[in-house]
Amino acid sequence: MTQPSVTEVAAAVDEIVRAHATKEGPLLPILHDVQARFGHIPETAMQPIAEALNIGRAEVHGVVSFYHDFHTEPRGRHIVRVCRSEACQARGGLAVEEGAQRALGLGWNETSADGRVTLEAVYCLGLCASGPNATIDDRPAGRLDADRIAGLLSELG
Ligand code: FES
Repeated sequence: MTQPSVTEVAAAVDEIVRAHATKEGPLLPILHDVQARFGHIPETAMQPIAEALNIGRAEVHGVVSFYHDFHTEPRGRHIVRVCRSEACQARGGLAVEEGAQRALGLGWNETSADGRVTLEAVYCLGLCASGPNATIDDRPAGRLDADRIAGLLSELG
């Protein structure tokens, strides 16, 4: 996975900042647009955003790290999220966690070297009754066990 060049990021930030210039509280919409453009918020975008808004780089960084939906590293084409919260744990979630990690050869928040898959932990998907649960590219998968998650992951393109 390659990071976009500094020039590419600066040009995109400039365009996105202009689009939000008249808005009040533009930082979050700017960050969402930058992430939509690159799939993540490159480190090299923080300083230009801070300068454009006349705030500190640390403030931009703080907001990015506060919200779980913002990512500073490129993510895979497929996003697999496995629930690690109590209800799923009580229904055998640990086996699903281990099955997903083994099937993908990844730890939490890691992305495969070919950029195909990112494995993430989540803490309740709101589907507790059908646990243990995961989502694969936002599609929920319930009543999982180690074999079932491995089977679903083997079908990913
Ligand atoms: S605890 Fe897993 S979906 Fe709620």
